[in-house]
Amino acid sequence: MHYDVIIVGSGIAAYAVARRLAAEKRVAIVTKSAQTTSNSMLAQGGIASAFSEEDHWKVHYEDTLKAGDNHSNKLAVTYLVQQGPRVVRELIAEGMEFDQDESAEYLLGSEGAHSYRRILHAGGDATGKKLTSFLYKEIDHQIDLIDYCAVVELVVEQERCVGVKVVESSGEILSFYSDHVVLATGGCGNLFTHSSNAATANGEGLSLAYYAGAKLVDLEFVQFHPTVLEVDHGSCGLISEAVRGEGALLVTAAGERIMEHVHPLKDLAPRDIVAREVYRRMMGGEKIYLSINHVKNFTGRFPTITSLCMQEGIDLSNGMIPIKPGAHFHMGGIQVNQVGQTSVNGLYAVGEVACTGVHGANRLASNSLLEGLVYGESLANFILDQPISHKRIPHVHMRSGNKVLLSAPFLAKIKELMTHHVGIERTSKKLGDLVGELGDHLSKVDVEDLGGYRADEILRIHQMTAAYLIAKSAYEREESRGAHYCVDFPEKNKEWEGRQIVQFITRNLE
Ligand code: SIN
Repeated sequence: MHYDVIIVGSGIAAYAVARRLAAEKRVAIVTKSAQTTSNSMLAQGGIASAFSEEDHWKVHYEDTLKAGDNHSNKLAVTYLVQQGPRVVRELIAEGMEFDQDESAEYLLGSEGAHSYRRILHAGGDATGKKLTSFLYKEIDHQIDLIDYCAVVELVVEQERCVGVKVVESSGEILSFYSDHVVLATGGCGNLFTHSSNAATANGEGLSLAYYAGAKLVDLEFVQFHPTVLEVDHGSCGLISEAVRGEGALLVTAAGERIMEHVHPLKDLAPRDIVAREVYRRMMGGEKIYLSINHVKNFTGRFPTITSLCMQEGIDLSNGMIPIKPGAHFHMGGIQVNQVGQTSVNGLYAVGEVACTGVHGANRLASNSLLEGLVYGESLANFILDQPISHKRIPHVHMRSGNKVLLSAPFLAKIKELMTHHVGIERTSKKLGDLVGELGDHLSKVDVEDLGGYRADEILRIHQMTAAYLIAKSAYEREESRGAHYCVDFPEKNKEWEGRQIVQFITRNLE
């Protein structure tokens, strides 16, 4: 079967596109794991929008720009925050249930750098799970779900993306063709050792687009969330910023508040600032905790976090949750315009893998689910306006190749390298070393014949390519801004304001 639209990925952004198209188009969703595996499913905080009477989209706009550290696309932000309240109210009208108090007033949460309480949540701290499930239920019977199949390459013919090659569990490669291909593959937090992300968030979408000839921007801006649960075996899940919104404080083991003299907003300062302070304290040998002693009804308001802590043997009765920063969100991604078009015809991107410029150098809390909904809708509307193509190309089966890259690092090694070289505090030397090391491996890849590699090897090449491009962008940015902090250029530099680093294929990765 030939599809009108193939959507790669299974989070909020993917479903926001699919729900607008499913009644009129033949839509397939291709995802490399279960339909329920995504960063969206794990989102705890909620959806930000100027929802209350006292709030206004102009205030949400200012908060978003401020967090973005003078690097946001103002038009894209305006569209996001203006559309936000409408999109959220439409969801409610369609039956999405957000948390309310006994008088049926919506409960609005607070998070870092927001001027008002404006975050709607569901199931306490299970907003992503509730919303993703709500959206998927709407499309379940209208689309073809192709799950547990990883996309290994995009099919580009005459400079237009016309389909995807997926690897099946048998190891066979199957090509699906479509008029429009949408990448909604999510983020890349799992390229780092400590992360709040799903184990599938390995950045392959960035690399798929790159080898198809698309431009990527702002890749150096990787947001580290200050509070990922810290346990003996590493880090294992998010402790939402909404917990600090309800009064939790970042403290040392002795109870000293670490944000007291760092920023006027203290524990609710922008995420990049809080994450760096936690990191610096930890580098100095201190353990950092979230003190929840002042949070009312913690277990009722945060059931997901409560059960995560219980599973990990954290005793909440002493009011201290051990935390550390972890990779959380990628502000950069595949360059797209207002309707999700990339620089390659027929190829679109939406959600975390895309870069609309709304998040600038540092995303404001709870703006990501909103971005998926608002930009998913605008991309779907654009596709609906396109003329129908009558070209019909059937699936094509082929055997996967068997080439491998000798001595290329596996994901575990890449995570170690990325954490060490491209973490919260970067140095030009470490960045340069990693660019050299990964660049050497990638220079041996035959980019004209990705299909000639063994299927698992192609995925490794994609992960390595995503890591390489992030490190390269970080190396090239000679200033510190938002989530990108380089000790050799510790200040913001006016000359870099609004300047974006663009990566695109040159065919010989130097
Ligand atoms: C959180 O709940 O702290 C994460 C929400 C977000 O990343 O926007």
